[in-house]
Amino acid sequence: MSSDRFTDAEVWEKIVEKLEEMNKKIGNKSPHVALSEGGVYDDERIDWWTSGFWPGLLWLGYDMTKNEIFKQSAWDWDIKMEQRMLEKNSFDHDVGFQFLSTAVFKYKLTGDMDARRRGLAAANFLAGRFNIQGHFIRAWNSNMHGWSIVDSAMNLSLLCWAAEELEDPRFMHIARLHADTLVEHFIRADGSVNHIVSFDPATGEAIEAIGGQGEAADSAWSRGAAWALYGMANMYRFTKDEKYGQAAQRVAHFFMSHLPSDKVPHWDFRTRGNPELEPRDSSAGAIAASGLLELAALIPEHIGRRYEAVAMQMLYSLYHHYSTWNKPQHQAILLQGTGHKPAGQNINVSLIYGDYFFVEAFAKRNGWKNRIY
Ligand code: GLY
Repeated sequence: MSSDRFTDAEVWEKIVEKLEEMNKKIGNKSPHVALSEGGVYDDERIDWWTSGFWPGLLWLGYDMTKNEIFKQSAWDWDIKMEQRMLEKNSFDHDVGFQFLSTAVFKYKLTGDMDARRRGLAAANFLAGRFNIQGHFIRAWNSNMHGWSIVDSAMNLSLLCWAAEELEDPRFMHIARLHADTLVEHFIRADGSVNHIVSFDPATGEAIEAIGGQGEAADSAWSRGAAWALYGMANMYRFTKDEKYGQAAQRVAHFFMSHLPSDKVPHWDFRTRGNPELEPRDSSAGAIAASGLLELAALIPEHIGRRYEAVAMQMLYSLYHHYSTWNKPQHQAILLQGTGHKPAGQNINVSLIYGDYFFVEAFAKRNGWKNRIY
């Protein structure tokens, strides 16, 4: 596949050059957000949910190029994460995002047994958040004992990896029960999703959907849909259970049919005002595109071809119209991400997870096989 100007291989070459530049500029920081003016990535605390994506980009760069520079920069991240785990910290269900792209990726590429141990400890931590009565994984800390969120779909790969690594189905039981809850309570009949569902932590009963990072409880937060699409595709790959494949396709159809003409989603597909006037979320586009490529490879070719075609339209639109190729000093790759619009946070900015999934998608297009999600 190519756009009118570039092939996937040519895009990958540019990505590698950019990663080398990012590596020089970002150094030991834990990047999360870069503003369009200035284009300098911030330095987020490392128990924040986004901390795995920069080391994940470094490991991706290493896996694809075998350039030791990337490996050297990525090496210490799971060690730092483990140290933070032993201190007072705010880790939550997002240890999936954080340890898959550090400890698990490192172990897969280098066989480092300490990294394996850290990945398994994170899987145990995630399994420990499972509410056995309500069949959900608790999302956040504080007093939100009964809150679960759709983003968790992506964290399930950590449990599936641990189940395979230890040949211990306990982890898979939890992943499946939580995935079933996502199908039942989060993914709506039309393929849009709830961000948060609150359950009674004592009885397990579902209480209500909450808008969270979407505009309202009944709106359609695009990044939430992207997480569900990709997470369900992963569960389908791990389990071969059609229920998850169908759930992924339901979300995929909703997502694809709500894309604007340039194929980069607005932050919420169902806002009260004119959605065309709302900010984009390039990160939702990158996540969904990588998820669509995953899904396309798992289903009959005649359906998969359509998903792949839309994914490539999204990726090349991001490449041509939402990225920093003509701003070499900018530390990020993608522009126009939206982090948390209802809270007024990180609107129209670069987001490290947008960069990660954009690069991951083009790595897949260029033969990358060592899946972490
Ligand atoms: N809470 C994860 C996200 O913003 O997508």
